[in-house]
Amino acid sequence: MEDDLKAILEQVGKDIEGIRTAAEFEQFKARVSGPNGSFTAITKQIGKLAPEERPKAGKLINQYKNALQEQYDKVLERLEKERLAALIGPPIDPTLPSPDAGPGSLHLLTQVRDEIASVLRKIGFVVADGTEIETEYYCFDALNTPQDHPARDLQDTYYLDSDAKIGNVERKEDERYLLRTHTSSVQIRTMLQQQPPIRIIAPGRCFRRDTADATHSANFHQIEALYVDKGVTVKDLKADLDYLFRSLLGPDAEIRFRPHYFSYTEPSFEVDFKVGHLGKVGSDWMEIMGCGMVDPAVFEEMGYDPNIWSGYAFGLGIERIAMTLYGVDDIRYLYQNDLRLLSQFS
Ligand code: DAH
Repeated sequence: MEDDLKAILEQVGKDIEGIRTAAEFEQFKARVSGPNGSFTAITKQIGKLAPEERPKAGKLINQYKNALQEQYDKVLERLEKERLAALIGPPIDPTLPSPDAGPGSLHLLTQVRDEIASVLRKIGFVVADGTEIETEYYCFDALNTPQDHPARDLQDTYYLDSDAKIGNVERKEDERYLLRTHTSSVQIRTMLQQQPPIRIIAPGRCFRRDTADATHSANFHQIEALYVDKGVTVKDLKADLDYLFRSLLGPDAEIRFRPHYFSYTEPSFEVDFKVGHLGKVGSDWMEIMGCGMVDPAVFEEMGYDPNIWSGYAFGLGIERIAMTLYGVDDIRYLYQNDLRLLSQFS
């Protein structure tokens, strides 16, 4: 009897490897352990044994039954694993690019920045670079912005701790460092490095201590422009801005200047625009940016003779232009990286 049981167990061990589905397993199990199964047939022989041999045989049968059950459990476990693996699919390598992602596209803010830059390049501007961490000198003092100006309020701006390490930058003694509040600081960096004539634009990131809402963000982007030459007048400023806004918004775009105050320009203006085809947004004058003629005090600080050189400067918010042009009504959408928004502008 033991030989027969052993032979069946061995055969089961081999056959079970080939089982692929739960249904196949059930059929197989029935052929071995079912009422007419090969294993069951052997266990029935116990009835023919002498009574004194039966306990020993019973024990033996139980041992083989358990061994058989182990084989069954093993195959059931394997089938379950295979079923789950089939549900999940092949193993995933999260470092690979997604197979269903498109080629990607530039962010709306990048597109608008590039558009503005390409219009201004056509009339001779080149891109200049600055740093996001600035000293008070570049951000305020050199721009004729006095100590008591509200922009210098600690609550308005992010100042760095006096012992904060700034990358590889060597800190100047007695200088306060801050995250630049505007790109106007690049005017100063450029004027100290070059001699006029100068015609630069400086796109970049700016920071202010603003609480985020639909129109404010602590981090935003500007493009600054500076033109210094002999005989530059408000007429040049107006003509170039007319050209910029017509290029950006269409030939029916109009702009107007309203007197304003900026400490680095004199006279200074705020610029409003209006554009018929933009519907509700463009139907009434809307404030869009600041500009003016470079204040002689700034030229003097740079070592330029204001009797020889004159110039204009302007600064505009990239978010502002993007939101106006594309009807985005909350600035926060521009930073959430939600594909439902981004893909509309790809
Ligand atoms: N720096 C100003 C701001 O952040 C914008 C600005 C106004 C820039 C007038 C200029 C300017 O160059 O002349 O609001």
